[in-house]
Amino acid sequence: MKTLIKNIKELVQVEYRPKLRAQGKEMSQMETIKDAYLLIEDDKIKAFGPMSQLTRCSALSGNSSNLEEVLNTVDLVVDATGRMVFPSFCDSHTHLVYANSRELEFVDKIRGLSYEEIAKRGGGILNSAKATAAASEEELYEMAQRRLDEAMRLGTGAIEIKSGYGLTTESELKLLRVIRRLKENSPMTIKSNFLGAHGIPMEYRGHQEDYVDLVINEMIPLVAAEGLADFIDVFCDQGFFTCEDTERILEAGIKYGMRPKIHANEMAISGGVQVGVKYGAISVDHLEQMGDAEIECLKGTETMPTVLPGCAFFLNLPLSPARKMIDAGLPVAMASDYNPGTSPSNNMQLILSMACIRYRLTPEEAFNATTINTAYAMGVSDQLGSIAVGKKANLYITKPISSYEYMPYSFGENKVETVFLNGKKI
Ligand code: NIG
Ligand code: FE
Repeated sequence: MKTLIKNIKELVQVEYRPKLRAQGKEMSQMETIKDAYLLIEDDKIKAFGPMSQLTRCSALSGNSSNLEEVLNTVDLVVDATGRMVFPSFCDSHTHLVYANSRELEFVDKIRGLSYEEIAKRGGGILNSAKATAAASEEELYEMAQRRLDEAMRLGTGAIEIKSGYGLTTESELKLLRVIRRLKENSPMTIKSNFLGAHGIPMEYRGHQEDYVDLVINEMIPLVAAEGLADFIDVFCDQGFFTCEDTERILEAGIKYGMRPKIHANEMAISGGVQVGVKYGAISVDHLEQMGDAEIECLKGTETMPTVLPGCAFFLNLPLSPARKMIDAGLPVAMASDYNPGTSPSNNMQLILSMACIRYRLTPEEAFNATTINTAYAMGVSDQLGSIAVGKKANLYITKPISSYEYMPYSFGENKVETVFLNGKKI
């Protein structure tokens, strides 16, 4: 099956020599082709270039230089006049499987309670865990499927999904099985992350090491036996899991082949960044609280610093020093953190806008932060995150727009008109 997208006003983020991530100054580089074509064959990007060279595209023309004959060799032609084509967003940090929204806590926060205060009195993650325990696997699957569908319509083509609203062995397995079903049935590329250490259940308060033991001795082996998790996560932060808890859990996960990808430094400079780096985490996420030592520690590592603008916005947290990290030569990824407690939005277009408006990234840096670097942070940047020959054809065509800068500029508006996943129009 061959699909040709022709007359593209601008084809954005093309790469001739694809890289796995963009760091420091590389983040401001972004190549585009004006008045372009893109050829998809089956589920992959086969070729692209300026429209003026369409008849010279060897994957298309055979020997013909006649445009009509060339177009006859493809199965579907999409005319993108006035529209731009971008690689799909990759959303490398979400908690998409949960039962209930938490708008009452949202009102409590407006009235003055902090996120930690709400958590201490049994709200927050524990509130979601209670509702999630009561929901059936089928109900959770249907809700998650709807949310995934919304994210897809907004331009997301790959997503990482965590467990973590279970907090009992049974319930954590239920969440991970929902994620497995989503993987099997959705056209999106999905990675799963086991976050048994997301909150400390009430009955373990005061002796949380026993809950850590449960995660290590019971949950991780069962999760591994069913092959349910690509990654292992811990909420390593003040008031949640300590660095010592985190080290123990990561060691256990690594033994079972799960790569660390953790929550760190949302509430405090918790040592989480250092723990993540020590255990070769593919990413350390949140990073609202960062000192110079944390930035230094990330240099020269394989760990992707990941900022979650939706969470900082929703909780009014200090902003992660993304600009400073990029200027120090680090890569930065930005993801949605989609969850009912701290970031109830799955809209990566909004994250793109926040990257520019609140964190002072240039549009080029913001696109790299939400595509190739988030693809890296979920281990798929060899297949996704840019427009390159041989990569998976996960991309979107915009509505008619004036320039690529319009994408972050016009915050809150959906600019995505048509979505392609695995080469197929959705
Ligand atoms: O990434 N920080 C920890 N976990 C989520 C919040 C979960 C919740 O409040 O439900 C986050 O922000
Ligand atoms: Fe999170």
